[in-house]
Amino acid sequence: MLVDGKHRKTVWFESGVLKMVNQPLLPHSFEIVELRSYREAANAIKTMVVRGAPAIGATAAYAMALAQLAGEDLQIAAQVIKKTRPTAQDLFYATDKVLQAAEAGGSAIEAAREIADDYETACEAIGACGADLIDDGASLNTHCNAGWLATVDWGTATAPMYKAKRQGKSFFVYVDETRPRCQGARITAFELCHEGIDHAVIADNAAGHYMFRGDIDLIIVGTDRVAANGDIANKIGTYSSAVVAQANNIPFYVAAPAATIDLQCPDGLSIPIEERGAEEVAYMFGKDESADRIARIRISPESSTVKNPAFDVTPAKYITGIITERGIFKPAEIADAFSSR
Ligand code: MRU
Repeated sequence: MLVDGKHRKTVWFESGVLKMVNQPLLPHSFEIVELRSYREAANAIKTMVVRGAPAIGATAAYAMALAQLAGEDLQIAAQVIKKTRPTAQDLFYATDKVLQAAEAGGSAIEAAREIADDYETACEAIGACGADLIDDGASLNTHCNAGWLATVDWGTATAPMYKAKRQGKSFFVYVDETRPRCQGARITAFELCHEGIDHAVIADNAAGHYMFRGDIDLIIVGTDRVAANGDIANKIGTYSSAVVAQANNIPFYVAAPAATIDLQCPDGLSIPIEERGAEEVAYMFGKDESADRIARIRISPESSTVKNPAFDVTPAKYITGIITERGIFKPAEIADAFSSR
């Protein structure tokens, strides 16, 4: 998608080097980092230089390729990579897929490139399916960043928006800020600015207010893992949004490529939920404009305990449909639709 009018991708491999957008710097600066070993790539996932389920998957795949190019033990590399973050299914899907290809005598870099290309194709197809849900003049809401910066290109939740925009539709997006890391305010808003899509950043707790007033017609979010029964895990706050949406008869869609679907996982309660560091909640990070630097400020008392679950589970009963590259399915249809994968 576009940054200052130029087409960009989130993560790619060039001349033996893994390159990616340095996401913690967004929206204040757009920089590319270069990684030369699988350990550096694993660290980029762990520290959220790259984040979002498919972007994590593509990075994991390229990390395995870096390991093979360096002649490292691929079993050990896979273990290190899979320990970085627990929730996104794509991490495990992509690491295992490249490992299997390499163990069968194949090229890890070819397998990784195929995975990254498949993400792009899948996300564009999600956009084509989902664009039909967006009426001209509609108001949408989304949570977190399930945009192109969370994938390789297009995004999942944002792909229908980008397609609808290219079809000439005009619409408005309420972007949940998404505390504590503010992926909505920092990253989704950055994307929508550069794609020229009308939007407003709202505090997470304002979403219900707009839903109750009838200001939101449609909600689309991404997901880190879809369980076999159609429950999903996504950024913390998604569950509350889905419950309030149902209470107000607002369609609530989840967008995901096949790589995010985990049919081995029976239900949402079986999805591992990442618990992240207290500093993400106890502090805010942002640009101190007077000093022109990124600053960190404390919010809660030093002696307060902090809890920081990074994801929550939205049960299938709150989900209107799951938008995939193969079409839009009811949550209960997911297991049958993807069992032959
Ligand atoms: O913690 P993050 O930023 O990796 O969480 C990202 C999300 O929750 C996204 O909504 C999800 O990965 C879907 S990305 C297309």
